[in-house]
Amino acid sequence: MTERDRKIWDSIAEHWDEQLGEGNDFQKMLIIPATDRLLAIAPGETVVDACCGNGNYARRLSRGGARVIAFDGSATFVELARKRTLPGDGDVNYHVVDACNQPAIDTLAAPRSVDAYVCSMAMMDLPALDPLLRAARAQLKPGGRFVFSVCHPCWNSNEADMTGRLVQGEGEPGQTFGVEVFRYAADWPHLSRGLLHQPEPHWMYHRSISSLLGDCFRAGFVVNAIEEPLFPADLRTRSPFSWARRPDIPPAMVVRLVPSPG
Ligand SMILES: C[S@@+](CC[C@H](N)C(=O)[O-])C[C@H]1O[C@@H](n2cnc3c(N)ncnc32)[C@H](O)[C@@H]1O
Repeated sequence: MTERDRKIWDSIAEHWDEQLGEGNDFQKMLIIPATDRLLAIAPGETVVDACCGNGNYARRLSRGGARVIAFDGSATFVELARKRTLPGDGDVNYHVVDACNQPAIDTLAAPRSVDAYVCSMAMMDLPALDPLLRAARAQLKPGGRFVFSVCHPCWNSNEADMTGRLVQGEGEPGQTFGVEVFRYAADWPHLSRGLLHQPEPHWMYHRSISSLLGDCFRAGFVVNAIEEPLFPADLRTRSPFSWARRPDIPPAMVVRLVPSPG
């Protein structure tokens, strides 16, 4: 993690922790159900939660009986995760580790000792994916899986505008909401705010789907499941900028990687 990124994440960690708690609507309605399905963790399995933030998903896994190794590059986030952890939360251990430093990730678990890896809504925050993917590939057991979620690369980026239009027909005019995309194919870094009122923006690293999955393939994985979760169409929300007003457009993509054969 660059010093620049670490400082920013440390300074916004408390805001994230307050807003997220044990999961906000985005996580509870979209990310967590899809991730649970794709991970399908059995009690007793060893799971690594990479870029765990305040640890809400790590604790969900440990409460379900998994042995969880959770890490984040921000010491402030890790401190907040430890503070939130209660005696009944099961077997969860937090570490301050940079997801862009493969030797550091290597120290967390022995080769072929991990049943599953999860990296929830964080790979678009990493300038390089290779160190994390290669460390995970070596630590996963042969039947292991790596489940990650990211902002949907096609239309949930800083170069996509949220749009709305008046729909006129025979009956009462209605409103419909969409997204207009201005840039997609090239990778580019940009400053963004992931949450409303985030005190300062953090760096994000846009990747097209072929760029993102290309890194996964080169590290020795194949994709064997993908979900594009949607908000329910009947969810009531007033903000025209909410993804819930776009119930046909998935704001995130959840992908399951497995070690490639051979
Ligand atoms: C959008 S938050 C997601 C946190 C958590 N996975 C969740 O779903 O609530 C991104 C997290 O990635 C962490 N992060 C960013 N760059 C990192 C790096 N190079 N190494 C480890 N963690 C990093 C941040 O500190 C932050 O906790």
